[in-house]
Amino acid sequence: MNVLILGTILKDVYLNLDPRKEHFETDKHGSQWLNLGFNASQHYFFYRKSCLGGAAVTLEVLSKMGIDAKIMGSDLQLTQDGLSSESTNIYRYILISNHGVSYLAPSSRPISTFIPPQTPYDYIFIDRSANLDDTTIDNLVSYLESTPRTILALYLPFAHKPELDFLVKIADIVFIETDSSKPNKIKPNNNSQHFIYLNEHSISTNGLTEPLSPNRIDVFTHLSTYSIISATILGSMILNLPLETGLKMCRANAENSKLDTTLSLPKLKELASNRTTQKNLELIAANLLIRPKGILAADESGGSIKKKFAKLGIPDTYESRRSYRDILITAPSLDEYVSGVILFDETARQKTSTGESFVDYLINHRIIPGIKVDQGLQKYPNSDETYTTGLSGLDQRLSEYYKIGLRFAKWRAAFEIQLNRQNHIITPTDRAVMDNCRILAQYAKKCQNHGIVPIVEPEVVFDGYYSIEQSATTTAKVLDCLFTELSTLRVNLKACILKTNMIIAGKHYPAQSTPEEVGRATANILKSHVPQELAGIVFLSGGQTVEQSTDNLAAIVKNGPFPWPITFSFARALQDPSLYAWNGDNSNAESAKRALIERLIANTSVL
Ligand code: 13P
Repeated sequence: MNVLILGTILKDVYLNLDPRKEHFETDKHGSQWLNLGFNASQHYFFYRKSCLGGAAVTLEVLSKMGIDAKIMGSDLQLTQDGLSSESTNIYRYILISNHGVSYLAPSSRPISTFIPPQTPYDYIFIDRSANLDDTTIDNLVSYLESTPRTILALYLPFAHKPELDFLVKIADIVFIETDSSKPNKIKPNNNSQHFIYLNEHSISTNGLTEPLSPNRIDVFTHLSTYSIISATILGSMILNLPLETGLKMCRANAENSKLDTTLSLPKLKELASNRTTQKNLELIAANLLIRPKGILAADESGGSIKKKFAKLGIPDTYESRRSYRDILITAPSLDEYVSGVILFDETARQKTSTGESFVDYLINHRIIPGIKVDQGLQKYPNSDETYTTGLSGLDQRLSEYYKIGLRFAKWRAAFEIQLNRQNHIITPTDRAVMDNCRILAQYAKKCQNHGIVPIVEPEVVFDGYYSIEQSATTTAKVLDCLFTELSTLRVNLKACILKTNMIIAGKHYPAQSTPEEVGRATANILKSHVPQELAGIVFLSGGQTVEQSTDNLAAIVKNGPFPWPITFSFARALQDPSLYAWNGDNSNAESAKRALIERLIANTSVL
């Protein structure tokens, strides 16, 4: 099988500027511009490299997959030392600084011409970098008419010239670049066309979606990511690999390639078949803990949401639950404050008011969707203590959740502190602690086996009559047991997040804890009972008031630094003002969204 690529070879110059040096001028609005008059030889770059971009990336990906590929009008080839150098005068500068990534690219590219090849090609691929005019399109169309077996694959950039619209109608395979914030309207016009929708955060086709996390600390930008994704999926189709494998190979290539070295076919296959690659899991965990963001818990089970609604007299229906979650999930700029949202099974299958699934909506807005997978608490016989259920059938559920795009999960165990008349702690008992921690570890292991990052949540519940010291003793005991069980099952702690209560006197205890006490005690217990390699810690609010949760979070942060990132993952302390503002009436949706964002601003600003 051979492929002819139509596109432009670019010279990409990546400059990762050291922001501590004076490369920037400030304009009258206070924003900084690169000072183009700077003398590069007198300045420092963290990184500076040039490599071939545009169609050259496509050629490299296909060649590394063992496919015979050629760029129209060029002899560029992949050799053992990489791409053989090709002179090009089309430079694109990619500037990376702490202000983000910006591009200095030519405003127009030369027209890509099409000269009918002597020997037939199995595939013609119009690359993202191609610049076609009517004459080229006419030449191409007449050639295709003369070689009906040639498959036409077309990359349709988000802002494309109208000339390409005709090719969309006749292409066999179309890659459609989507804007994360707008639903896509372009659909195949017949059953034999294969449409693939992609952006730098996900790729989807035929009902399958593969989220991508190419958040790289090196200078890999979305431009090359797009080329890598489209070329990899095309390569997998040429090789006749199952679509699911192809999507995973795209992800592996986008997430693991180095600048100017994409992955070989054996490596792609290995990464695609190993869904549990620890590196991917660690990357997801790190992205969930990116500062200064938190994780919104919107995962109330059917029973919990019913109780919440009942308090306000809101009818508990499938549609009222959907409307409420729609308010939370589609709140404007949510992605500035949260890295992930935890959903409940029903919500993960529901859609926004504009018809996009909540999961896709989140992915398209750079928010990682997660899911509560435990199935609630079960009392031990003749006891008020509980253990958490949900292990049975969990493998199947995780596998399905992975397929629909969910990338992290949550499991909650609850421990109530009860005291005897001598003020000694009688619950949680050793049995309840051991059982629950063992179950949490089993759940975490299963998640990692399915490519899902586990959040383990052993909650010492706030609703009790106990001192801050008793909260500390109990939490420490639970944490010690949990980390022993996680280590026994060899759960990768770098891809595991702890969701914990703050150390605080019980809600009914006469001497309520001050933020200073909560901050100090929580920091002390966590620093001495949580292994350093853990990916991070998030806090639940546990029934504290909205302001109390934020004040206590701020006080904990002040007691840092910590060896792991810490942030919030509240449900009630984020949602309550929004729920009251909505009150079951969708005409209040805008003020309900604002109320959520206000809590997010308050909490992210103390991190
Ligand atoms: P709260 O913040 O309301 O305690 O909820 C957190 C959570 O997700 C409990 O599982």
